Amino acid sequence: MEQISIAIFRAFMASLLLSTILVGSVNGRFVVEKSSIVVLSPVHLRSKHDSAIGNFGIPDYGGTMTGSVVYPDKGSTGCNPFDGPNPFNSRPSRPTVLLLDRVDCYFAMKVWNGQQAGVAAVLVADNIDEPLITMESPMDSMDTDGYVEKIRIPSALIDRSFSNSLKKSLQQGEEVLIKLDWTESMPHPDERVEYEFWTNSNDECGARCNEQMKFVKHFKGHAQILEKGGYTQFTPHYITWYCPEAFILSQQCKSQCINHGRYCAPDPEQRFDEGYEGKDVVIENLRQLCVHRVANESNRSWVWWDFVTDFHIRCSMKEKRYSKECAVNVLKSLDLPIDKIKKCMGDTDADVENQVLKTEQDLQVGRGSRGDVTILPTLVINDVQYRGKLGRTAVLKAICAGFKETKDPPICLSGDLETNECYERNGGCWMDSRSNISACKDTYRGRVCECPVVNGVQYLGDGYTSCEAIGPARCTESELSGCRCPHGFRGDGHKCEDINECKEGLACQCDGCTCKNTWGGYDCKCKGDLLYIMEQDTCIDRNSSKFRWFLTLLVLAGVVGSGIAGYIFYKYRFRSYMDSEIMAIMSQYMPLDNQQNEVQPLRQASSV
Ligand SMILES: *[C@@H]1O[C@H](CO)[C@@H](O)[C@H](O)[C@H]1NC(C)=O
Ligand SMILES: *[C@@H]1O[C@H](CO)[C@@H](O)[C@H](O)[C@H]1NC(C)=O
Ligand SMILES: *[C@@H]1O[C@H](CO)[C@@H](O)[C@H](O)[C@H]1NC(C)=O
Repeated sequence: MEQISIAIFRAFMASLLLSTILVGSVNGRFVVEKSSIVVLSPVHLRSKHDSAIGNFGIPDYGGTMTGSVVYPDKGSTGCNPFDGPNPFNSRPSRPTVLLLDRVDCYFAMKVWNGQQAGVAAVLVADNIDEPLITMESPMDSMDTDGYVEKIRIPSALIDRSFSNSLKKSLQQGEEVLIKLDWTESMPHPDERVEYEFWTNSNDECGARCNEQMKFVKHFKGHAQILEKGGYTQFTPHYITWYCPEAFILSQQCKSQCINHGRYCAPDPEQRFDEGYEGKDVVIENLRQLCVHRVANESNRSWVWWDFVTDFHIRCSMKEKRYSKECAVNVLKSLDLPIDKIKKCMGDTDADVENQVLKTEQDLQVGRGSRGDVTILPTLVINDVQYRGKLGRTAVLKAICAGFKETKDPPICLSGDLETNECYERNGGCWMDSRSNISACKDTYRGRVCECPVVNGVQYLGDGYTSCEAIGPARCTESELSGCRCPHGFRGDGHKCEDINECKEGLACQCDGCTCKNTWGGYDCKCKGDLLYIMEQDTCIDRNSSKFRWFLTLLVLAGVVGSGIAGYIFYKYRFRSYMDSEIMAIMSQYMPLDNQQNEVQPLRQASSV
């Protein structure tokens, strides 16, 4: 691969440059979702303004909040924590809305510091005159120490001139009262909410992948209740790219695409010579789409949520179980018709369009009020893109705001209900028919398959196909001959004790690794970005060959012809790389008079 010819290389460069230009020109498709702000007092400022909803925290979709504005004398950037428990002398009777300046640090950090100081909402004042932009969470959650997740308050960006008028009024000692209003942020035309989730079956893309899986797991219960009740119509979507025509026969496109270069996904490990290929991800995405289609035909559309969570648990990429065989086992346990799903997926090697994926690619490009899907994961509710944290409560609130007034289902009022899925076929979980012991549990998160504890006996296993009684009390109950403690335990078989692998130095002794003992096993985390390989008890570098990353990026660049979907998603991983190496390489081949071009697409969403 390293001997890639200069000619191809130049062509790649051209497609990359083209992508930059195209991305710049279709800027308008990213929709900045808004809420409004009404100034109630002082009287001379009475007016209504737009503000841009921040993409973290919990916007109060469907609601309003009236509060008094505070602009701190000191530390008006909000980049440092405010001192004391009540730094703004907020009155309990009226919420405080903190106004901060947009400079010096992440938007999310300002909002977090505001929340810590007890305010009810944060407004960020833009420091330049420009149309409103979306405040994004930081690209790399590594440098945020987890605070973004913990933001609960709503936030919004307001334009410079409006913020100046608020500041001026406050400086004159006037009390400024405003109403933040999200009632028009979510259309609510009828008794059913339609929503879409743009996702990916890859579980190895770092923070973003973890975030979307966590959301699916947590939201599953709510989603299924809403779907079964006919309150919502949910559709999952998956983004794919395509290979530029000239490179269809290249090794990169062959390993990352199906149907002759038509549908591609980037290599999960960014290494072409090992692990999974982009192609594996596209095929699994296609399977998950077909699961939804086929289940929907028999009016069981909610089974998609079970399939996706079970697949993630049973067939994770991290544990090297991401395979067709594993997926088929999950299909079986959920009683999904394997033949129909296979038919829906079609022949992925054939040089033909795949109707399912073709439809998905067409939908990536924005229509109506929705705008292009440019960030993964993206949730679209009643045709507008959801902004805010991807959490169970926050999303339920937004969906509930999408029902016509007084037509919202009971779950919007109570929030916590059980799904009663274990009654049917034991939820597809493991069950011992003789003793009537089951691994199925109904929870507000939907049904989960977890090996139980029965009469003090701990069962362990995957919860789907096997659970075994292990640990204390096993042999005393049945007195089987050859009584032995299971793997990860020590004892005479009657009494077993967990082995602390970490303490005893049996595993995870790699340099800089953190070891955590668990019952019957251990968790090992490598330092930095390294990946832990359990079988070898060692850490490996995910991206040792930067040049291969580069090739991955180039293939992605070709995709741009079909729209910019995904560009911003990939900015998260490639940005720092593009900034340095790619620009350096590009400048050797092309005159780059304006390097700023490259960051244009980010203009309508930014994290600082
Ligand atoms: C699911 O089925 C309903 C009818 O039961 C249909 O209106 C809808 O378009 C289907 N959704 C998908 C994604 O096929
Ligand atoms: C699914 O529901 C639709 C409309 O609600 C109905 O017309 C159709 O017959 C149902 N399909 C099955 C397989 O039950
Ligand atoms: C197993 O549990 C079900 C439901 O709790 C019950 O109806 C059934 O009688 C039980 N069977 C045995 C063998 O205990």
